Amino acid sequence: MTIFKLKIGENKIENMSITIKKMNLKDYEKIKDNLKKDFDDFWTPTVLESELKNKNSKYIVAKENEEILGFAGIIILPDDVEITNIVVKKEERKKGIGKSLLEKIIEISKETKRNIISLEVNEKNLVAINLYKKFGFEKVGQRKKYYNGTDDAVIMSRKI
Ligand SMILES: CC(C)(COP(=O)(O)OP(=O)(O)OC[C@H]1O[C@@H](n2cnc3c(N)ncnc32)[C@H](O)[C@@H]1OP(=O)(O)O)[C@@H](O)C(=O)NCCC(=O)NCCS
Repeated sequence: MTIFKLKIGENKIENMSITIKKMNLKDYEKIKDNLKKDFDDFWTPTVLESELKNKNSKYIVAKENEEILGFAGIIILPDDVEITNIVVKKEERKKGIGKSLLEKIIEISKETKRNIISLEVNEKNLVAINLYKKFGFEKVGQRKKYYNGTDDAVIMSRKI
């Protein structure tokens, strides 16, 4: 996969030099013990490890001076691309890193020759929903009580 290097032009991030590149198992080793504390309780480390080893998945990581500030991944399915994960370190949020990761994920998805990129998000996760809307994702469905048997999942997608 291409290695991306970018300086993000957002005001809030102008003093940071963020590099986005392919995520590998070494990156995973660095963060796996503190995933929940530093990032979120979205997945267990084992699931993330198996995703990184899955040949149909592609993961990217945002770093500043080798510190991992966020990561995101997709899985390439026969008919579409699904975003499996996008997460930014808790104290680094609202600086534009999520936007940069999503932008790169969409760019990578273009290489897959699929037409649609989709995802599932908790209906209460308005921050993520706003982020996806900003990139042209629209609600296309809903899964009732998908999260913990209580919260609905919103399915969103856009053309690649
Ligand atoms: C969702 C997440 C990745 C966003 O990362 P981030 O780096 O904070 O996002 P950015 O700073 O790039 O902001 C991107 C957009 O998200 C939305 N956003 C960010 N913080 C927000 C907040 N507190 N309230 C509402 N919208 C917000 C805005 O639309 C924002 O765009 P803007 O700054 O132009 O208004 C981050 O909050 C996160 O890691 N959340 C936990 C994991 C998660 O829920 N992932 C999504 C799973 S589907």
